[in-house]
Amino acid sequence: MDYPKIYVNFAAYSSIEKGNLIVRKHGILNIRDFEKLDVGEIVDVYSKKGRFLGRGFKNPHEIRIVTLKKEKIDENYVRNKIIEADKYRKFLGFKDAYRMVYTQSDWLNGLVIDKYNDIATVQIFNYGFELMKDTIVETLLDLGIDSIYEKSTGRNRRRAGLKEQEGLLCGEKTETIIKEGNAKFKVTFGGQKTGFFLDQRDNRLELEKFIKEGDRVLDVCCYTGGFSVHAALKGAEVVGIDLSKKAVELAKENMQLNGIDDSKYEFRVGNAFEIMEEMIEDGEEFDVVILDPPAFAQSKKDVKNAVRGYHLLNRYGAKLAKRLLVTCSCSHPIEPMEFKAIVIDAALKANKWIRQIGPYRTQPADHPITSKGTEYLKCLFFKVDGF
Ligand SMILES: C[S@@+](CC[C@H](N)C(=O)[O-])C[C@H]1O[C@@H](n2cnc3c(N)ncnc32)[C@H](O)[C@@H]1O
Repeated sequence: MDYPKIYVNFAAYSSIEKGNLIVRKHGILNIRDFEKLDVGEIVDVYSKKGRFLGRGFKNPHEIRIVTLKKEKIDENYVRNKIIEADKYRKFLGFKDAYRMVYTQSDWLNGLVIDKYNDIATVQIFNYGFELMKDTIVETLLDLGIDSIYEKSTGRNRRRAGLKEQEGLLCGEKTETIIKEGNAKFKVTFGGQKTGFFLDQRDNRLELEKFIKEGDRVLDVCCYTGGFSVHAALKGAEVVGIDLSKKAVELAKENMQLNGIDDSKYEFRVGNAFEIMEEMIEDGEEFDVVILDPPAFAQSKKDVKNAVRGYHLLNRYGAKLAKRLLVTCSCSHPIEPMEFKAIVIDAALKANKWIRQIGPYRTQPADHPITSKGTEYLKCLFFKVDGF
């Protein structure tokens, strides 16, 4: 089968060669041909010299390459790739809650599926896959999923020229309880992300190793209490901060679910920057501080402001920390070494000498890294000392 040919410039070609499977309009040479195509149409991408680079769907502002082979992309393709992706997670040992499909890493560029027991959440940000939603639903049902919640919102959805969509696609369940090591979490759908930040699983488990009975822990941007619950289970007293009242309510529920006495935790709804500033003024200190803010930078143009944000947050965090600083960034455009340099500089400004413990940490294997663009999470553990 012949598909329309789209030719790309050298920059887009080298980007594809590095595994980044999105071609923006400015990389397209025969832009008039591109504009004439219907959105959702399958196209073949070629270098200027006529080398086949990949096959994918036309979206209003870009091409999302789905495969690097000249293979058929149809309902069967989508079904088989979802099944393969799920098998891979099972092979890796994931059981009840995991990211089942992670966009281009699973040859389904523009589709993300998370599984929480028998509930799946689906995010579609490729016009081509929107047209195959029924196949996605049927495949998940065949894999034993009972309820499917669609959470197709945000910038990527809008870039695909699609209306934001949120709600149950089938079934009736909108909440469940998942296990993470010894911790239990209630996950509900309708809040942020796809219910739960599965990407921090290993880092939350790692935290437990560093918590001592009676520690005071500050969990900044705590969401539904992910790090807080693990710290409390090891005997810490926890203060959590988050801007979202709904998330904080669920964080309290999660503490109760894990049998944590309510004298052992306090959650504050508000802006972390303001609350931490007040804490510093009041001379407060914590044995352990965890910083897990939202992505301050979504694209390169946000980087300057994001760097300022991370610097300030880490300066406050280091100031408040007596023994351990766990600091994270989920901003794609900020590189690991750049992030580390920001944290170290911020700590020095707070008169703290920090020593990295263990390697640089990132997202777990159910969010497979296949290129620079698919690696986003950075998490660093630092021993903190004053000077
Ligand atoms: C990446 S999530 C944290 C995930 C959490 N650590 C976990 O393990 O589940 C970021 C959180 O930051 C919160 N947030 C965003 N801006 C904030 C701010 N200025 N102050 C406090 N919380 C904020 C969001 O509501 C969200 O819950």
